[in-house]
This record gives sequence, C-alpha cells and structure tokens, in this order.
Amino acid sequence: MARNNTLKLKFDSARKYAPAPESRSAAKIKDQYELFINGKFEKPLGKKYFDTINPATEEKLSRIAEANEADVDKAVKAARSAFGVWSKMVPKERGKYIFRIARMVQERARELAIVETLDGGKPIRESRDFDIPVVGNHFFYYAGWADKLEYAFPNRNVQPLGVAGQIIPWNFPLLMAAWKIAPALATGNTVVLKPAETTPLTALLLAEIIQEADLPPGVVNIITGAGATGAAIVNHPDINKIAFTGSTDVGKIIQRAIAGTGKKATLELGGKAANIIFDDAPIDQAVEGVINGIFFNQGHVCCAGSRLYVQESVYKEVVRKLKDRLETLIVGDPMDKNTDIGAINSKQQLDQINKYLKIGVKEGAEMYQSSVDLPKKGFFCRPTIFTNVAQSNRISQEEIFGPVLTIQTFRTDDEVIEKANNTPYGLSAGVWTDKGSKIFNMTIKLRAGVVWANTFNQFDPTSPFGGYKESGYGREGGLHGLGAYVTLSNVV
Ligand code: NAI
Ligand code: MG
Repeated sequence: MARNNTLKLKFDSARKYAPAPESRSAAKIKDQYELFINGKFEKPLGKKYFDTINPATEEKLSRIAEANEADVDKAVKAARSAFGVWSKMVPKERGKYIFRIARMVQERARELAIVETLDGGKPIRESRDFDIPVVGNHFFYYAGWADKLEYAFPNRNVQPLGVAGQIIPWNFPLLMAAWKIAPALATGNTVVLKPAETTPLTALLLAEIIQEADLPPGVVNIITGAGATGAAIVNHPDINKIAFTGSTDVGKIIQRAIAGTGKKATLELGGKAANIIFDDAPIDQAVEGVINGIFFNQGHVCCAGSRLYVQESVYKEVVRKLKDRLETLIVGDPMDKNTDIGAINSKQQLDQINKYLKIGVKEGAEMYQSSVDLPKKGFFCRPTIFTNVAQSNRISQEEIFGPVLTIQTFRTDDEVIEKANNTPYGLSAGVWTDKGSKIFNMTIKLRAGVVWANTFNQFDPTSPFGGYKESGYGREGGLHGLGAYVTLSNVV
C-alpha cells in the first residue's frame, strides 16, 4: 500500500521544501486555442469562441473554441474511424503510446502545473506536488495494463466498447482528463473528451502532447465548450460510452438522456463526506486531517470531508484547535508557494458558496471564519466552520463545494453511522480512532466508495474510486477502472 502524492505535503512541512516561486513566464499560453480533432487543431465550424480567465486576477488568459453539434459530429466520426486502427493494434504498441504520453507529461510538468494554477485557481504547491505528478502516474499505470488485459480478465474474451465521450469538471482538470483517457486507451477505445469551460487549458496542452506523441489521428479528440457541447456528446448516436464527472444535477440529466440507448456510463458525481473523530483518536493528527480534508483545493473536491462529527468528550478541544489552525491558513495568490487556499474557481462557484453561508446562518448554525484579509481582485473565500448544525440543515445535506466545514457531535458508534450515512451521497468518509476494531466496524457500515482511516484524501492510480447512491455509479482507477471500458464474453 505504498502511497505517493499524499496531502501530508500540504499546509505544514512542505513549506520548507518549496522551491522558488513559479512565474507565469514559464508557461506559454497562446492567445487562442482551436479544437483538437483527428490529430489536428481545427477552427470551430460555428466560428464561436469564449474566454478562459484566471480566477485569482479576473484577467483573460486565452480565447477558446466553442464546439457545436457539427464539431462534435466531426470528432465522433474521427474517433470512430480511428477505433478500427486503435482497437486492432498490437496491445504492446498501444501501451508504448500511453507511456510516451506519461513521459511527456513529466517533461512538461512544471509548465502544466503553472497553467493549471493560472486557469483554475488552485495553489501552485498542489498543482506541482499533487495534480500533475498523479497525472503522470495514471498514464504510466494504465500503459502497463495495455498488454496485460488477459490477466485482468482471465479466460474471458475482452473487447473495447468503442467511442467514449468523456466530460470532465474544473476541480482537477488535467487529472480528470488522465483518469478518463488513460484506461480508455489502454483497453482499445477511442475518445472524445471535453474539459470544463472555466479550465480548458491543460487539456489543450495535453492535446499538443498527444499530437507530438504521434498517436494515430482521431484516437483522442479534445473539444472545448460548455454544457451544450457536453450535451451534444452525450446525445450523439455513435457514442458507445459516457464517462462523466461533475454535478449530480448534470449526472441525472445524462442518465435520462441515455436511457434506452444502450450507451454505457460511469458517473462520478457529488459528495458530502463525513469525517469522524472518536475520543481515542490522536487529536492533533485528526485536526490536521480535517483541515486537509476540507480545505484542499479550496474544498472543490467531490470527496471533501465537508461534515465533521466529533465525539462529545473531545468536541471542545477539537473545535478550539480547528479555529486556531484556521487562522494560520494562508489565503491568496495561488502562484505563491506558501498559499494554502487559492482562488475559488469561478464567480458562479463563489456565489454558490456565499449563498450557502447565508443559508447556514439563517438555519441557525453558528459561523466562524478566519480573520485573514482577502485579495481585492479575484474570487476568494475565507475558510469557514459552522457549529451548532442540525443534521437536517441544508448546509449538512447539500454539496457546497467550497472551503466550508460543518461540525456536529455524537455519543455512540451507532449514532454516528446513522448520521454519516444520512445524506443523498456516498462517495467517501474518514475515521479517526486508535482502535483497529472500530475502524473495521466503521468501514463495513459506512455507505461510501472509499473510507480513509487516520488519513484523508489519499489517491493513487491502483485504487478504484466511485460512489454509492447519488454520488454516481461505476468505478474509476485500478483494475475496476479498466472494467468500465470493456465488454466481456464468456467462451464455454
Ligand atoms: P457541471 O456538472 O455543470 O459541470 C461539469 C461538466 O459538465 C463541465 O464540463 C460542463 O461543461 C459539463 N456539462 C454541463 N451541463 C451539461 C449537460 N447538460 N450535458 C453534458 N455536459 C454538461 O458543474 P458546475 O455547474 O460547474 O458546478 C456546479 C456544482 O456541481 C458545484 O458547485 C459542485 O457542487 C458540483 N460539482 C461537482 C463536481 C465533482 O467532482 N463532484 C465537479 C464539478 C462540480
Ligand atoms: Mg480559467
């Protein structure tokens, strides 16, 4: 269970190892980006473009092509014709192409990290130490599977699904692209991928990498646009599989849209994870884990530990320590290596978070925010804690997707299991205790796709990830992630 890229780097010890501040000049962002279709960058047929901005400064970074239905059709046709070549290629050769992508991601890691931070607002330390290294790891991991599928599915005839339409969100832009593209390619599928409209840049740099890696044209197509472009992918009749990560609302739209079409889907949707501290837990470690759990990436994390449950006898101590720790978090310029909490990804997302802060206060919860000064420009939010929260409160039930933590107390194991499971979601959970038996009991009773014990937010390419209930279905990562892109036949 070797774990790399854990978030322990963040917030404390990382500070002394961080190299010189990154500068924008290390990243060459073009004024305009086109659609990557059939191995070439093509102008959008509808001649429309939209801007992507830096949410920390509100400055425009680039003009991005908007794909309409005709562009989507072009991309799907390219992917369909490439499917013949790619699916029949000797698996070892497919693996070599994916390895090449992994290596090129590593070579351009510094630039990719800077662009990720400029376009999306996350702290450079996170892009550099987490997002981009894990992107490389994903491509390496799935490259290794390409010629070993017979071991993944012994005695079965394994076939790729065909053309995969992949729609990804803005919280981990390049990482989500890697999660989607790497297993699809390893299993012989071809891809039409759409990044989110606020963070298209790293996916477009990945398109450059894919072009340079000389993948056969059409194997990966990367097209940009907003919800309408995504819907055109979902509704295209020649798509065989939809892989979506994003809001539960759009996930439900997609489920309705593909009903009866025979399209396969994996949906990775929202979350409202419980982080549970028992009175026998190492409290300082738990407090640090809770801070990481909710403030990593400004809380724009589907598996963020957004609901804290503390056993009554340690409640006061935990809340006091959390408040003290909140004051030390640095909020501001994402390009500064010391920043803990960067910019909120968009004005729309900031409005949503602020809406929930008001709702929380109105519901009678007590709001505590750090006293940090926020930058005058850009979209920022103070790290926030709500106490005196009721289980039925909206702030305790709905995904806020920002740096906002609710805290409740509990007495018994049964009570906390009941509360932890009492939301429409079931993506992740965290348990802090000294007792192995308690961990065991919790992990079998918590309805969550991943349960972290005495840690939080640990990811690696070998582990399957996905949700229960309205958090979606299907698993990505590891062997299970391959299963989402193949169909098996049984030879008797
Ligand atoms: P969203 O679900 O609208 O966007 C995610 C992706 O879906 C984007 O690429 C978007 O262009 C695309 N999309 C939008 N409408 C579509 C449609 N009808 N058909 C196909 N694709 C479509 O999420 P949004 O509006 O950016 O964020 C709203 C809330 O969703 C957030 O506040 C958060 O609660 C949640 N969210 C959750 C994520 C997660 O990882 N669980 C990621 C992003 C958002
Ligand atoms: Mg942007």
